[in-house]
Amino acid sequence: MKVTVVGAGAVGASCAEYIAIKDFASEVVILDIKEGFAEGKAMDLMQTASLNGFDTKITGSTSDYSKTAGSDIAVITSGIPRKPGMTREELIGINAGIVKSVAASLVEHSPNVILIVVSNPMDTMTYLAHKVTGLPKNRIIGMGGALDSARFKYRLAEALEAPISDVDGMVIGGHSDKGMVPLTRLATRNSVPASEFLSEDRLNQVLEDTKVGGATLTKLLGTSAWYAPGAAVSGLVQAIACDQKKIFPCSVMLDGEYGLSDLCIGVPVVLGRNGIEKIVEINLSDAEKAKLQESAEGVKATNGLI
Ligand SMILES: NC(=O)c1ccc[n+]([C@@H]2O[C@H](COP(=O)([O-])OP(=O)(O)OC[C@H]3O[C@@H](n4cnc5c(N)ncnc54)[C@H](O)[C@@H]3O)[C@@H](O)[C@H]2O)c1
Repeated sequence: MKVTVVGAGAVGASCAEYIAIKDFASEVVILDIKEGFAEGKAMDLMQTASLNGFDTKITGSTSDYSKTAGSDIAVITSGIPRKPGMTREELIGINAGIVKSVAASLVEHSPNVILIVVSNPMDTMTYLAHKVTGLPKNRIIGMGGALDSARFKYRLAEALEAPISDVDGMVIGGHSDKGMVPLTRLATRNSVPASEFLSEDRLNQVLEDTKVGGATLTKLLGTSAWYAPGAAVSGLVQAIACDQKKIFPCSVMLDGEYGLSDLCIGVPVVLGRNGIEKIVEINLSDAEKAKLQESAEGVKATNGLI
Protein backbone atom coordinates (compact mmCIF):
# COMPACT_ATOMS: atom_id res chain seq x y z
CA MET A 1 0.00 0.00 0.00
CA LYS A 2 1.57 3.24 -1.21
CA VAL A 3 0.29 6.56 0.11
CA THR A 4 1.31 10.00 -1.14
CA VAL A 5 0.85 13.14 0.93
CA VAL A 6 1.14 16.39 -1.02
CA GLY A 7 2.13 19.31 1.21
CA ALA A 8 4.83 18.71 3.82
CA GLY A 9 3.50 21.48 6.05
CA ALA A 10 1.81 21.19 9.41
CA VAL A 11 -1.13 18.98 8.38
CA GLY A 12 0.73 16.95 5.75
CA ALA A 13 3.60 16.05 8.09
CA SER A 14 1.24 15.23 10.96
CA CYS A 15 -0.83 13.03 8.69
CA ALA A 16 2.28 11.22 7.35
CA GLU A 17 3.44 10.67 10.93
CA TYR A 18 0.14 9.14 12.08
CA ILE A 19 -0.03 6.91 9.00
CA ALA A 20 3.52 5.69 9.65
CA ILE A 21 2.99 5.12 13.36
CA LYS A 22 -0.10 3.00 12.66
CA ASP A 23 2.19 0.85 10.46
CA PHE A 24 -0.35 -0.34 7.86
CA ALA A 25 1.24 1.24 4.74
CA SER A 26 4.43 -0.04 3.14
CA GLU A 27 5.38 3.38 1.77
CA VAL A 28 4.53 7.03 2.32
CA VAL A 29 5.81 9.66 -0.14
CA ILE A 30 5.65 13.30 0.97
CA LEU A 31 5.83 15.92 -1.80
CA ASP A 32 6.16 19.70 -1.52
CA ILE A 33 7.23 22.55 -3.78
CA LYS A 34 9.59 24.04 -1.19
CA GLU A 35 13.08 22.80 -2.14
CA GLY A 36 14.26 20.04 0.23
CA PHE A 37 11.37 20.54 2.68
CA ALA A 38 9.61 17.21 2.06
CA GLU A 39 12.93 15.34 2.00
CA GLY A 40 13.80 16.90 5.37
CA LYS A 41 10.44 16.03 6.93
CA ALA A 42 10.68 12.47 5.57
CA MET A 43 14.20 11.99 6.96
CA ASP A 44 13.22 13.39 10.36
CA LEU A 45 10.16 11.11 10.47
CA MET A 46 12.23 8.06 9.38
CA GLN A 47 14.54 8.72 12.30
CA THR A 48 11.54 8.19 14.63
CA ALA A 49 10.92 4.70 13.14
CA SER A 50 13.21 2.79 15.51
CA LEU A 51 11.88 4.84 18.42
CA ASN A 52 8.20 4.49 17.58
CA GLY A 53 8.44 0.95 16.20
CA PHE A 54 7.18 1.22 12.63
CA ASP A 55 8.46 -0.18 9.32
CA THR A 56 6.67 2.18 6.91
CA LYS A 57 9.21 3.66 4.51
CA ILE A 58 8.86 7.44 4.25
CA THR A 59 10.50 9.37 1.40
CA GLY A 60 10.36 13.02 0.36
CA SER A 61 10.21 14.70 -3.03
CA THR A 62 10.47 18.28 -4.26
CA SER A 63 7.83 18.51 -7.01
CA ASP A 64 8.88 15.21 -8.64
CA TYR A 65 5.61 13.38 -9.21
CA SER A 66 7.34 10.36 -10.74
CA LYS A 67 8.16 9.40 -7.10
CA THR A 68 4.42 9.24 -6.37
CA ALA A 69 3.71 6.85 -9.28
CA GLY A 70 1.50 3.90 -8.45
CA SER A 71 0.03 5.43 -5.28
CA ASP A 72 -3.10 3.71 -4.00
CA ILE A 73 -4.17 6.73 -1.95
CA ALA A 74 -3.07 10.38 -2.18
CA VAL A 75 -3.83 13.13 0.31
CA ILE A 76 -3.88 16.78 -0.82
CA THR A 77 -2.88 19.17 1.97
CA SER A 78 -1.01 21.68 -0.21
CA GLY A 79 -2.17 25.27 0.05
CA ILE A 80 -2.28 28.13 2.49
CA PRO A 81 -3.93 27.78 5.91
CA ARG A 82 -6.06 30.50 7.47
CA LYS A 83 -4.76 33.10 9.90
CA PRO A 84 -6.73 34.35 12.91
CA GLY A 85 -9.95 36.10 11.85
CA MET A 86 -10.04 34.54 8.37
CA THR A 87 -12.74 32.20 7.07
CA ARG A 88 -11.84 29.03 5.16
CA GLU A 89 -13.64 30.48 2.13
CA GLU A 90 -11.13 33.36 1.93
CA LEU A 91 -8.39 30.87 0.95
CA ILE A 92 -10.05 29.96 -2.32
CA GLY A 93 -8.12 32.30 -4.63
CA ILE A 94 -4.72 30.72 -3.97
CA ASN A 95 -5.78 27.20 -3.04
CA ALA A 96 -7.98 26.54 -6.08
CA GLY A 97 -4.99 26.93 -8.43
CA ILE A 98 -2.82 24.70 -6.24
CA VAL A 99 -5.41 21.92 -5.84
CA LYS A 100 -6.18 21.96 -9.55
CA SER A 101 -2.58 21.35 -10.64
CA VAL A 102 -1.79 18.92 -7.79
CA ALA A 103 -4.89 16.75 -8.44
CA ALA A 104 -4.10 16.57 -12.18
CA SER A 105 -0.44 15.61 -11.56
CA LEU A 106 -1.37 12.95 -9.01
CA VAL A 107 -3.85 11.24 -11.33
CA GLU A 108 -1.44 11.44 -14.28
CA HIS A 109 1.10 9.37 -12.31
CA SER A 110 -1.37 7.16 -10.40
CA PRO A 111 -4.46 6.58 -12.56
CA ASN A 112 -6.04 4.23 -9.99
CA VAL A 113 -5.52 6.54 -7.03
CA ILE A 114 -8.13 7.40 -4.38
CA LEU A 115 -7.84 11.12 -3.55
CA ILE A 116 -8.43 12.60 -0.11
CA VAL A 117 -8.77 16.39 -0.24
CA VAL A 118 -7.89 18.41 2.85
CA SER A 119 -7.00 21.90 1.54
CA ASN A 120 -9.59 24.57 2.31
CA PRO A 121 -12.27 25.56 1.51
CA MET A 122 -12.40 21.78 1.52
CA ASP A 123 -15.90 21.06 0.12
CA THR A 124 -15.22 23.32 -2.85
CA MET A 125 -11.70 21.92 -3.34
CA THR A 126 -13.19 18.39 -3.38
CA TYR A 127 -15.72 19.51 -6.00
CA LEU A 128 -12.87 21.07 -7.99
CA ALA A 129 -10.89 17.80 -7.82
CA HIS A 130 -13.89 16.07 -9.43
CA LYS A 131 -14.07 18.65 -12.20
CA VAL A 132 -10.32 18.49 -12.91
CA THR A 133 -9.77 14.73 -12.78
CA GLY A 134 -13.12 13.23 -13.80
CA LEU A 135 -12.44 10.31 -11.43
CA PRO A 136 -15.44 8.18 -10.44
CA LYS A 137 -17.21 9.63 -7.40
CA ASN A 138 -16.18 6.78 -5.05
CA ARG A 139 -12.53 7.83 -5.49
CA ILE A 140 -12.62 11.45 -4.30
CA ILE A 141 -13.17 12.09 -0.62
CA GLY A 142 -13.06 15.39 1.24
CA MET A 143 -11.87 15.29 4.86
CA GLY A 144 -13.67 17.66 7.21
CA GLY A 145 -16.47 15.85 9.01
CA ALA A 146 -14.12 13.33 10.64
CA LEU A 147 -12.23 16.23 12.23
CA ASP A 148 -15.36 18.21 13.10
CA SER A 149 -16.86 15.08 14.70
CA ALA A 150 -13.70 14.57 16.79
CA ARG A 151 -14.01 18.17 17.96
CA PHE A 152 -17.71 17.57 18.69
CA LYS A 153 -16.83 14.51 20.81
CA TYR A 154 -14.20 16.53 22.66
CA ARG A 155 -16.79 19.20 23.54
CA LEU A 156 -19.42 16.57 24.42
CA ALA A 157 -17.04 14.76 26.76
CA GLU A 158 -16.16 18.09 28.39
CA ALA A 159 -19.83 18.96 28.95
CA LEU A 160 -20.72 15.45 30.14
CA GLU A 161 -17.59 15.24 32.32
CA ALA A 162 -17.13 11.82 30.70
CA PRO A 163 -14.17 10.04 29.11
CA ILE A 164 -14.11 10.61 25.34
CA SER A 165 -14.35 6.85 24.69
CA ASP A 166 -17.80 6.98 26.34
CA VAL A 167 -19.25 9.52 23.89
CA ASP A 168 -20.31 9.40 20.27
CA GLY A 169 -21.48 12.07 17.87
CA MET A 170 -21.33 13.13 14.25
CA VAL A 171 -21.07 16.40 12.34
CA ILE A 172 -22.44 16.59 8.80
CA GLY A 173 -22.78 19.50 6.36
CA GLY A 174 -20.19 21.89 4.99
CA HIS A 175 -16.76 22.21 6.59
CA SER A 176 -17.21 25.86 7.60
CA ASP A 177 -18.06 27.70 10.80
CA LYS A 178 -21.56 28.48 9.53
CA GLY A 179 -22.18 25.31 7.53
CA MET A 180 -21.39 22.59 10.07
CA VAL A 181 -24.35 20.60 11.35
CA PRO A 182 -23.44 18.81 14.62
CA LEU A 183 -26.18 16.22 15.17
CA THR A 184 -26.82 16.87 18.88
CA ARG A 185 -30.08 14.87 18.73
CA LEU A 186 -28.10 11.70 17.90
CA ALA A 187 -25.17 12.30 20.28
CA THR A 188 -24.85 9.65 22.97
CA ARG A 189 -23.02 8.70 26.12
CA ASN A 190 -22.63 4.92 26.00
CA SER A 191 -25.82 4.66 23.87
CA VAL A 192 -27.88 6.97 26.16
CA PRO A 193 -28.90 10.21 24.39
CA ALA A 194 -26.70 13.11 25.54
CA SER A 195 -29.93 15.12 26.00
CA GLU A 196 -30.73 12.90 29.01
CA PHE A 197 -27.70 14.34 30.79
CA LEU A 198 -27.43 17.87 29.38
CA SER A 199 -29.89 20.77 29.23
CA GLU A 200 -30.87 22.15 25.83
CA ASP A 201 -28.79 25.26 26.57
CA ARG A 202 -25.69 23.21 27.40
CA LEU A 203 -26.12 21.08 24.27
CA ASN A 204 -26.46 24.25 22.22
CA GLN A 205 -23.23 25.51 23.76
CA VAL A 206 -21.51 22.25 22.72
CA LEU A 207 -22.87 22.79 19.20
CA GLU A 208 -21.61 26.39 19.01
CA ASP A 209 -18.17 25.49 20.46
CA THR A 210 -17.88 22.69 17.87
CA LYS A 211 -18.70 24.99 14.97
CA VAL A 212 -15.94 27.44 15.91
CA GLY A 213 -13.54 24.60 16.83
CA GLY A 214 -11.09 25.45 14.05
CA ALA A 215 -11.32 29.24 14.58
CA THR A 216 -10.68 28.82 18.33
CA LEU A 217 -7.45 26.96 17.60
CA THR A 218 -6.40 29.35 14.84
CA LYS A 219 -6.68 32.21 17.34
CA LEU A 220 -4.60 30.33 19.93
CA LEU A 221 -1.96 29.03 17.50
CA GLY A 222 -1.76 31.91 15.00
CA THR A 223 -2.36 29.37 12.20
CA SER A 224 -4.72 26.46 11.73
CA ALA A 225 -4.41 23.24 13.73
CA TRP A 226 -2.59 20.09 12.57
CA TYR A 227 -2.61 17.23 15.11
CA ALA A 228 -6.35 16.46 14.96
CA PRO A 229 -6.57 17.14 11.19
CA GLY A 230 -3.60 14.79 10.62
CA ALA A 231 -5.12 12.11 12.85
CA ALA A 232 -8.50 12.44 11.11
CA VAL A 233 -6.89 12.00 7.67
CA SER A 234 -4.92 8.98 8.87
CA GLY A 235 -8.21 7.42 10.07
CA LEU A 236 -9.70 7.73 6.58
CA VAL A 237 -6.53 6.40 4.92
CA GLN A 238 -6.46 3.42 7.28
CA ALA A 239 -10.16 2.63 6.72
CA ILE A 240 -9.49 2.46 2.96
CA ALA A 241 -6.11 0.72 3.14
CA CYS A 242 -7.37 -1.93 5.58
CA ASP A 243 -10.83 -2.24 3.98
CA GLN A 244 -12.41 -1.50 7.35
CA LYS A 245 -15.92 -0.52 6.12
CA LYS A 246 -16.07 2.15 8.83
CA ILE A 247 -18.54 5.03 8.72
CA PHE A 248 -17.12 8.56 8.64
CA PRO A 249 -18.83 11.79 7.64
CA CYS A 250 -16.95 12.84 4.48
CA SER A 251 -17.45 15.41 1.77
CA VAL A 252 -18.63 13.47 -1.27
CA MET A 253 -20.29 14.22 -4.59
CA LEU A 254 -24.04 13.87 -4.13
CA ASP A 255 -26.42 12.84 -6.85
CA GLY A 256 -29.84 13.16 -5.23
CA GLU A 257 -28.90 11.76 -1.81
CA TYR A 258 -30.32 13.96 0.96
CA GLY A 259 -32.20 15.80 -1.79
CA LEU A 260 -28.92 17.41 -2.95
CA SER A 261 -26.93 17.14 -6.15
CA ASP A 262 -23.92 18.53 -8.02
CA LEU A 263 -21.96 19.47 -4.90
CA CYS A 264 -19.62 17.87 -2.37
CA ILE A 265 -20.74 18.16 1.25
CA GLY A 266 -20.32 16.15 4.45
CA VAL A 267 -22.59 13.12 4.87
CA PRO A 268 -21.96 9.71 6.45
CA VAL A 269 -20.25 7.20 4.16
CA VAL A 270 -18.81 3.69 4.47
CA LEU A 271 -15.08 3.67 3.64
CA GLY A 272 -13.35 0.53 2.38
CA ARG A 273 -10.90 -0.62 -0.28
CA ASN A 274 -12.95 1.05 -3.06
CA GLY A 275 -12.99 4.38 -1.29
CA ILE A 276 -16.59 5.46 -0.77
CA GLU A 277 -18.44 2.14 -0.72
CA LYS A 278 -21.83 3.56 0.27
CA ILE A 279 -23.45 6.88 1.08
CA VAL A 280 -25.51 6.30 4.22
CA GLU A 281 -28.81 8.17 4.24
CA ILE A 282 -29.97 8.63 7.81
CA ASN A 283 -33.37 10.00 8.79
CA LEU A 284 -32.91 13.64 9.67
CA SER A 285 -35.45 15.76 11.54
CA ASP A 286 -37.04 18.64 9.64
CA ALA A 287 -34.79 21.11 11.50
CA GLU A 288 -31.66 19.11 10.58
CA LYS A 289 -32.78 18.86 6.94
CA ALA A 290 -33.25 22.64 6.85
CA LYS A 291 -29.77 23.20 8.30
CA LEU A 292 -28.20 20.81 5.78
CA GLN A 293 -30.04 22.58 2.95
CA GLU A 294 -28.81 25.98 4.18
CA SER A 295 -25.28 24.60 4.48
CA ALA A 296 -25.50 23.26 0.91
CA GLU A 297 -26.48 26.71 -0.35
CA GLY A 298 -23.33 28.13 1.29
CA VAL A 299 -21.14 25.46 -0.32
CA LYS A 300 -22.74 26.06 -3.73
CA ALA A 301 -22.10 29.80 -3.40
CA THR A 302 -18.38 29.07 -2.75
CA ASN A 303 -18.32 26.59 -5.67
CA GLY A 304 -19.51 29.47 -7.84
CA LEU A 305 -16.21 31.25 -7.16
CA ILE A 306 -14.04 28.62 -8.90
N1 LIG B 1 -10.08 19.89 5.87
C1 LIG B 1 -9.68 20.11 7.11
O1 LIG B 1 -10.29 19.64 8.08
C2 LIG B 1 -8.44 20.93 7.35
C3 LIG B 1 -7.87 21.02 8.63
C4 LIG B 1 -6.72 21.78 8.80
C5 LIG B 1 -6.14 22.44 7.72
N2 LIG B 1 -6.74 22.35 6.50
C6 LIG B 1 -6.17 23.01 5.32
O2 LIG B 1 -5.03 22.26 4.90
C7 LIG B 1 -4.15 23.13 4.18
C8 LIG B 1 -2.73 22.97 4.73
O3 LIG B 1 -2.64 23.49 6.03
P1 LIG B 1 -1.23 23.49 6.79
O4 LIG B 1 -1.49 24.02 8.15
O5 LIG B 1 -0.56 22.18 6.63
O6 LIG B 1 -0.43 24.59 5.92
P2 LIG B 1 1.16 24.73 5.78
O7 LIG B 1 1.41 26.10 5.26
O8 LIG B 1 1.83 24.31 7.05
O9 LIG B 1 1.54 23.64 4.66
C9 LIG B 1 1.13 23.74 3.34
C10 LIG B 1 2.25 23.20 2.48
O10 LIG B 1 1.78 23.15 1.12
C11 LIG B 1 2.93 23.39 0.30
N3 LIG B 1 2.49 23.75 -1.05
C12 LIG B 1 1.98 24.92 -1.51
N4 LIG B 1 1.75 24.83 -2.83
C13 LIG B 1 2.08 23.58 -3.21
C14 LIG B 1 2.07 22.89 -4.45
N5 LIG B 1 1.61 23.47 -5.56
N6 LIG B 1 2.51 21.63 -4.48
C15 LIG B 1 2.97 21.02 -3.37
N7 LIG B 1 3.02 21.63 -2.16
C16 LIG B 1 2.59 22.90 -2.09
C17 LIG B 1 3.65 24.52 1.02
O11 LIG B 1 5.00 24.63 0.58
C18 LIG B 1 3.51 24.07 2.46
O12 LIG B 1 4.63 23.30 2.91
C19 LIG B 1 -4.73 24.54 4.32
O13 LIG B 1 -5.47 24.87 3.18
C20 LIG B 1 -5.64 24.41 5.52
O14 LIG B 1 -6.67 25.38 5.53
C21 LIG B 1 -7.86 21.62 6.30
